[in-house]
Amino acid sequence: MKGFIAMNTDHAGPPPGRRNFLAELLALVCGGLATLTPVGVGVWAFLDPLRRKGSAASFLPVTELAAVPDDGVPRQFAVIAERADAWTGFAAEPIGAVYLRRAKGTDAVEALSATCPHAGCFVEIEAAEKCFRCPCHNSEFTLDGGIVSPSPSPRPMDVLECRVAKNGSVEVKWEKFRAGVAEKIVQ
Ligand code: FES
Repeated sequence: MKGFIAMNTDHAGPPPGRRNFLAELLALVCGGLATLTPVGVGVWAFLDPLRRKGSAASFLPVTELAAVPDDGVPRQFAVIAERADAWTGFAAEPIGAVYLRRAKGTDAVEALSATCPHAGCFVEIEAAEKCFRCPCHNSEFTLDGGIVSPSPSPRPMDVLECRVAKNGSVEVKWEKFRAGVAEKIVQ
């Protein structure tokens, strides 16, 4: 009998002291996970805009094809978009401007950024003189954006990708480029 009792005690699991320690450890791990999981999700959500920052430029609708006469003369259009910084979204507002032009009898539209490549001023069209001119330092450009020498601008006006959607909307890939350098480098 004495031997029987001793045998049962061997299979009864860890001693009470060790059992309490394991239970407390398990409770600690569970409590830690329960606390850290929401914190981790919160941090992930907080940093999410930073992960998305730097995404590729998108095509923005600027006008309708019918608003760009096929006479080869550039017309100015505002680029309007919803702006957003890392955490805050803003209502749609003008973020820049482009010149669009269309050759006679075609639906193909060319787009030039209205931002001067020299130092970022706004380039104006001189319809009578059939050229563009920047009022800040007098850079001059041809109607297709080519540079007229001598001009302080280090490169021609920036050509933007442009397409006409099936619904007739003219869409421009809005990008900004580094000013004051000969290469066209996306900012
Ligand atoms: S900013 Fe246009 S010429 Fe200087």
